[in-house]
Amino acid sequence: MLIRYKKNLEKIAMGLLSFMPTVKDVKTLQDMIKQYETDPNWHLYLWKDDDDMIGVIGLKVNEEEKQAVIQHLSVSPSHRNQGIGKLLISEIHQQYNQYQICAEEVIDGFYKKCDLEYDSHSK
Ligand SMILES: CC(C)(COP(=O)(O)OP(=O)(O)OC[C@H]1O[C@@H](n2cnc3c(N)ncnc32)[C@H](O)[C@@H]1OP(=O)(O)O)[C@@H](O)C(=O)NCCC(=O)NCCS
Repeated sequence: MLIRYKKNLEKIAMGLLSFMPTVKDVKTLQDMIKQYETDPNWHLYLWKDDDDMIGVIGLKVNEEEKQAVIQHLSVSPSHRNQGIGKLLISEIHQQYNQYQICAEEVIDGFYKKCDLEYDSHSK
């Protein structure tokens, strides 16, 4: 189940986001989470499986242009290669079906691997 980020999920979200190759230090991570908390165009979700939060996906949204860029995606190491990453991409496409969606370069290799039946809406 996709859950919208709330402050009480900060630690688990930061733990998952720390696996992003673009996160080099704690300061980057803290700035990132702060922006998800304060910037209305930055949307962060966690993936809940039973009682565990095992994935995170973050977007930057442009409401006027109806565009969304997936800028962060990470799955807990112990749950990788079970389709969770692809599921997160698919869930976001359903939730943002009015938006043109693309992914930042660091995610694009994985994004293109996802079997996107919604390709016509993607960049
Ligand atoms: C990338 C990531 C989110 C994939 O999550 P996942 O739940 O393991 O992915 P899925 O199980 O849905 O898909 C696994 C497939 O994606 C491939 N894959 C994993 N990382 C990839 C990447 N960076 N680029 C392209 N393909 C990738 C796997 O080789 C596997 O391929 P297969 O289906 O041919 O065997 C996960 O490996 C992760 O959290 N990595 C650390 C964070 C990261 O690097 N994020 C940026 C890249 S998205």
